[in-house]
Amino acid sequence: ILGVAAALFIGYLMGSVPFAVVVSRAMGLKDPRSFGSGNPGATNVLRGGNKLAAVLTLIGDAAKGWLAVTLAAWAAQRGLLPGAAIPLAGLGAFLGHLYPLFLGFRGGKGVATALGVLLALQPWLALATAATWLIVALVTRYSSLAAILAAIFAPFYYILGDKVAWRADALTISVIVFISVLLLARHRENIARLLAGKESRIGSKKKS
Ligand code: G3P
Repeated sequence: ILGVAAALFIGYLMGSVPFAVVVSRAMGLKDPRSFGSGNPGATNVLRGGNKLAAVLTLIGDAAKGWLAVTLAAWAAQRGLLPGAAIPLAGLGAFLGHLYPLFLGFRGGKGVATALGVLLALQPWLALATAATWLIVALVTRYSSLAAILAAIFAPFYYILGDKVAWRADALTISVIVFISVLLLARHRENIARLLAGKESRIGSKKKS
């Protein structure tokens, strides 16, 4: 239990590093919480007009989720942590991104971090989920809709891949479902804007 709690907490601390804010500050750009959707995430950094900053935010936010799970897996392989610590470290990182210690618990929506977590859990699952995001994003140009659909599909992909590509376990299924539900809840304003036809598209200058 101590190992599991430690994995959750260390994951949480790692997830708490808000790359949208860190990268923007380091590059002398406006804080993404002050414009567009106000969300500290890659999509909104892109609205600020700096593509490199958006890419670095995406990579940083994904990398912290990936690293949390990878470190837990490394420790579990050496018998330092129980296997349950692996998905829970990912959950910790995701929660850290949503409720970051370093931003007064007001974080982002978790899309990049969830992807990084999936990548470390099962690369093919991450690929299928990222492909879903990309197809929806290319067709509709809505980043939020792409994330919403990818989050709905990810748990099904994980269950479908069981015994074909990997062994699905109940804890990992629960963590993926929980992450998806939280991610969807975080997009409720986006869902309202989508339904009202007021969501801003990738590449459009219009404020949402
Ligand atoms: O990455 C989050 C995305 O799905 C929506 O972001 O800024 O349009 O609310 P945003």
